[in-house]
Amino acid sequence: MNVSPDRNQQAHAADSSSGKMPRHVAFIMDGNGRWATARGLPRTEGHRHGLEALRKTIRHAGKRGIEVVTIYSFSSENWSRPETEVSFLMGLLRRFVQRDLSELHEANVKISVIGGRDDLEKGILALLEEAEQLTRNNTGLNLVVAFNYGARAEIARAAKRLAEDAVRGDIHPDEISEESIGNALDTRGIPDPDLIVRTSGEMRLSNFLLWQAAYSEFYFCDQHWPDFDEAAFDEALACFSNRQRRYGGLDATAL
Ligand code: FPP
Repeated sequence: MNVSPDRNQQAHAADSSSGKMPRHVAFIMDGNGRWATARGLPRTEGHRHGLEALRKTIRHAGKRGIEVVTIYSFSSENWSRPETEVSFLMGLLRRFVQRDLSELHEANVKISVIGGRDDLEKGILALLEEAEQLTRNNTGLNLVVAFNYGARAEIARAAKRLAEDAVRGDIHPDEISEESIGNALDTRGIPDPDLIVRTSGEMRLSNFLLWQAAYSEFYFCDQHWPDFDEAAFDEALACFSNRQRRYGGLDATAL
């Protein structure tokens, strides 16, 4: 899998637009179930095809010179799905790591995992940690896998960490800042997402990266995730390149 950020491709894509490429794109891969149901297939088939769309997306992100891709692969709320679907998704994650890890490693991809780890099944946790450990020194695309992830729980964990530091006397409450909270989150060291893409027509964040999305651009499209391909990705990038990001300030032209 060739997923090294390709600076020439990046320059090319930038030249043909107003010149802005996101460093970090986060995906809410929605609509697997609806994709399958529309074809008279079991929902699990939608997830299987969703994994193919994910592989395409990772490759294409590398071609376009994107530095970080975050995927919402399993939310902390997804445990409430029927047991058969949950165990299929666990199996899919296992297969993804077992089959794709060596290829991703060869392609210089660094894998990071965000989300709650305490209550994860030991085998899954070991696989995720192995993927992180093996790829930790890679310098290409950073693939951030949000697994058993919920943003409110992540923020609560960060608050707990800071409170524990304060009780130990390692920090004074006055030192708690946006920066120290950011550093206590699972995403410490990872730039905030510039662009968040959600497929399948739903327009909400569903407890994904609530802190980190403060100034993200949002892109919603109607395709179900298994149909998300290179052309759909490029459309999202083209749309991003035309956005004016002001971060609460004013356009240079308005000054
Ligand atoms: C949302 O679609 C999708 C998920 C809950 C799982 C996303 C998983 C993949 C794309 C496959 C790759 C997975 C791993 C673990 C690497 P949905 O089931 O909510 O669809 P619906 O809204 O149409 O029901």
